[in-house]
Amino acid sequence: MLSEVLLVSAPGKVILHGEHAVVHGKVALAVALNLRTFLRLQPHSDGKVSLNLPNIGIKQDWDVARLQLLDTSFLEQGDIAAPTPEQMEKLKEVAGVPENCAVTERLAVLAFLYLYLAICRKRRALPSLDIVVWSELPTGAGLGSSAAYSVCLSAALLTACEEIQNPLKDGARVSRWPKEDLELINKWAFQGEKVIHGNPSGVDNAISTWGGALRYQQGKISSLKRLPALQILLTNTKVPRSTKALVAGVKNRLIKFPEIVAPLLTSIDAIALECERMLGEMALAPALEQYVVLEELIDMNQHHLNALGVGHAALDRLCQVTMAHGLHSKLTGAGGGGCGITLLRPDLEQEEVEATKQALTGCGFDCWETSLGGPGVSMHSAASLNGPVQQALGCF
Ligand code: PMV
Repeated sequence: MLSEVLLVSAPGKVILHGEHAVVHGKVALAVALNLRTFLRLQPHSDGKVSLNLPNIGIKQDWDVARLQLLDTSFLEQGDIAAPTPEQMEKLKEVAGVPENCAVTERLAVLAFLYLYLAICRKRRALPSLDIVVWSELPTGAGLGSSAAYSVCLSAALLTACEEIQNPLKDGARVSRWPKEDLELINKWAFQGEKVIHGNPSGVDNAISTWGGALRYQQGKISSLKRLPALQILLTNTKVPRSTKALVAGVKNRLIKFPEIVAPLLTSIDAIALECERMLGEMALAPALEQYVVLEELIDMNQHHLNALGVGHAALDRLCQVTMAHGLHSKLTGAGGGGCGITLLRPDLEQEEVEATKQALTGCGFDCWETSLGGPGVSMHSAASLNGPVQQALGCF
């Protein structure tokens, strides 16, 4: 068992193109966001394991000796596997989460306990740990916050239990794990995602583990080899939406108007492929005309998504406001509210970007200027984290 403090971070994601079409077998492109979740793990010897999630107001601890005595044989499945509904019931008993706790909070605690017990129980004694997780990502906005949480937990627990090595070598500020270790982190994180989401596609944990950009089609995930540096505005309209209801709405429209809707999905597929091709070209030799192509693809896809019935007045407003500043936007994720992305061309004046951000916040939206395609799960030295992150994690 490692005795040092571990500082881990993992990114959220956006879907560039292919949302909804991916449900019908088409290609989707997912890209890591430069908004991250940070975790601090501190081993100690007070006989407790504690979890502190300041974003959602969770602060809970468990007696390690009590957890040790519990019959956790239900976790004994040989291979890495998600808990069955019966096993989830047992985890709930172990968790002792107050009855009045909201669903998100409850699931975050269950995912933690599952990963802690399943990963650490291979050691003779369960370790005494303090864990704090803090995120720059809003929860429930389709930005992969739960996957970033599961990825951080898996990476930190596997490292603390010496299942994988701490990649941070003397003097390094940030380091990443080798490929085999990332594969193990991703597998465990997928199980954590299953505790939270039931039956996730695995894209969110994959992009949070590997970073960069991924192409996703019919369960097959592959990394894009080359990605240019892209800046975006990410806007959260804060309009709540149900991914499940929106996905069902598209399916109904496809059944009702197959001749109209199937070509839309085929066209979205072609947009994703053209975007992938363009990104590869831009990474080799960037030129302003390529940004114009990306903007056209964004506009066409946004219209298609509207035609699929997953738009919203708030998203229309977002597109109009940014267009008034000469910028192109589309919804990202499930739509029906939620988030949108706006491409920032490299020739833009910062003043124009600021004016756009101000106009968007003026509509009551949250808005971040951020980059796409950042690194996946990483181990940090304390010095590599900025002041606000250190403060949020209690690093002093
Ligand atoms: O809500 P998000 O960002 O996880 O996006 C959902 C994407 C959909 O294509 C609408 C659904 C799916 O399962 O792929």
